[in-house]
Amino acid sequence: MTNRKILVTSALPYANGDIHLGHLMEAIQTDIWVRFQRLRGHDCVYVCADDAHGTAIMLSAEAKQTTAETLIAETEERHKTDYDGFSISFDNFYSTHSDENKYLSETIYQALKQNGHIKKREIKQLFDPEKNLFLADRYVVGTCPKCHAEDQYGDNCEVCGSTYSPAELINSRSSISGSKPVLKNSEHFFFDLPQFKSMLQQWTRSGTLQDAVANKLAEWLDHDLKQWDISRDAPYFGFEIPNAPGKYFYVWLDAPIGYMASFKNFCSKRHYQFDEYWRPENSDSTELYHFIGKDIINFHTLFWPAMLHSAGYRTPTAVYAHGFLTVDGTKMSKSRGTFIKARDYLKHLDPEYLRYYLGAKLSSGIDDLDLNFEDFVFRINSDLVGKIANIASRCAGFITKNFNSMLSERLDNGALISELQSASCEIANYYEQREFNKAIRHIMSLADKVNQYINDKQPWTLAKSDPKSQNLHNILTTSLNAFRILIIYLKPVIPATAQKVEDFLSVRPLSWDDIDAVLLDKKINVFKPLIVRVEQKSIEALILQGKNSDTVIEDTASNSNSSTEEHEKGSEEQEIDITHFLKMDLRVAEIIDAKHVPEADKLLELKLSLGANERGETISRTVFSGIKSAYQPETLIGRLTVIVANLKPRKMKFGVSEGMVLAAGPGDKEIWLLKPDSGAKAGMRIT
Ligand code: 2FM
Ligand code: ZN
Repeated sequence: MTNRKILVTSALPYANGDIHLGHLMEAIQTDIWVRFQRLRGHDCVYVCADDAHGTAIMLSAEAKQTTAETLIAETEERHKTDYDGFSISFDNFYSTHSDENKYLSETIYQALKQNGHIKKREIKQLFDPEKNLFLADRYVVGTCPKCHAEDQYGDNCEVCGSTYSPAELINSRSSISGSKPVLKNSEHFFFDLPQFKSMLQQWTRSGTLQDAVANKLAEWLDHDLKQWDISRDAPYFGFEIPNAPGKYFYVWLDAPIGYMASFKNFCSKRHYQFDEYWRPENSDSTELYHFIGKDIINFHTLFWPAMLHSAGYRTPTAVYAHGFLTVDGTKMSKSRGTFIKARDYLKHLDPEYLRYYLGAKLSSGIDDLDLNFEDFVFRINSDLVGKIANIASRCAGFITKNFNSMLSERLDNGALISELQSASCEIANYYEQREFNKAIRHIMSLADKVNQYINDKQPWTLAKSDPKSQNLHNILTTSLNAFRILIIYLKPVIPATAQKVEDFLSVRPLSWDDIDAVLLDKKINVFKPLIVRVEQKSIEALILQGKNSDTVIEDTASNSNSSTEEHEKGSEEQEIDITHFLKMDLRVAEIIDAKHVPEADKLLELKLSLGANERGETISRTVFSGIKSAYQPETLIGRLTVIVANLKPRKMKFGVSEGMVLAAGPGDKEIWLLKPDSGAKAGMRIT
């Protein structure tokens, strides 16, 4: 395996708000990939920075009665602490408001200008006469010119969906000062993107992009490209454009240059050569990757490679976009308590849970990913605690007590260990391709085999009958060797847990090559619990905190780490595991009473019989069911239905519902229960 030299970035968070779950999903995706590369022995540098410029940050600082410099310095510290809490292994976390970034932005701009790629022209823009500030579209509000809906922002109406220029808004006003904006001319600088059409057509088709992204770009590139406005008028928090007093670089010009600047700063502290990673002549020997959200694809796959190309730098090896994060099926929301900040999460839950959960769901595509808390609890408890940690906790005690903490000289089952070892190529390929969900699925299927082995061998029984037997010693040694391999496979995802295992096994930091080794005749340490079960009450406390926490939402043009209301779930997300299914207690129930629920449009209150208990008493349940549109209550008495009998009772507005009635049909008048003569009897289990 040759040693690769890789530079990786994730999108730069804006420096005026805290890190939330959306940012974390991207950082965790990137970090898993980076850690995997390092585990394989590659030289993989991961840099990031705060995106510190722009009007939003300037206004935020003003609102907090502080300077932009103070605000971004404070935010930078918070961001570093937050990411650190989730073991995000940046080699450097810097800021776009830095000397390196100023230098690089200026020199790149000069190069673009010299190459004839910068154009100047006057534009008309709305201006706030009170604040003396040109207004970006999102800072103008007014009445929609089409449907007359009030308080519509910028250039499109949320009520009727029409688009218009902000100047067309009726009774427009500045959302900053409330004053009436006026139209004013100003000279702007443009990056002449149309000159790069064929360069971009080539670059986007050279395997640098995911298929879905390349297809989208091919559509854009079929049409005429527009020049890109890279300047903003003072007052603006950013870098002043050389030889253009009062004109500043638009935040999106110097933001991606921030990737270079952070790396340049890293080079000044460590023995890395900037040019080795950024000059075209080295683009065969080093690799450059950007992980981003799907909403900022255009910046990274059009403007950015074109700028780099013009300024004599290399273009990225690949840009990897991901989808948005939703929580419990919808956009993160403060009122639902699902707009969760990193620091709030850490008060209630172990960061390794989130890394594992996201790892188990992330793929290489751009579909949105849903964090479903019920599934979260289930996956952590069943996989991490029940399948992984359980292997060690069932075996370690006996090694300590019965064998003086020594591993045996022999394995009981070498074939099991070989089977685990031989999965390494497949798992490595999944990680490399960012198919983390597939990697984890495969690792868990191996864990199932190991647990099956332990169940079959029952070391706890042997430990009673023959506590010091060679056989027991070999079984325990096999199990712990299997455990060690599983931990190497999971190390990119749960690094803190892996480190605890290294301490337990008394080994140096594990690497991918260690998969092929076997630990024999070795003293190990006392086992300490690796990871505890997630408690439902911790999730509830977190959601409650989310509802009460102050949220600053970046009001910038685009937020790669935001989430969205629309989300197409991949088919994988809709599948449930057999263990989920087996946990459901489905029973036939007879409806013994049914009545209307006053004030509820759709619900009937049903009393169901689940047959009789041993003493001959009827087991009954009250269930509120949305079948009112299809049935008069009295016609239901004596009918049979299927219910989920072990559903946790739910408190509803009208009472407690103790189960869920299953019925078929599209709804309204067509909701079908079981036929009365189906032969089923109340209480029968559905198998
Ligand atoms: O959308 C965002 O959150 C931006 N701050 C991302 C910038 S990424 C890069 F180009 F700097
Ligand atoms: Zn409208």
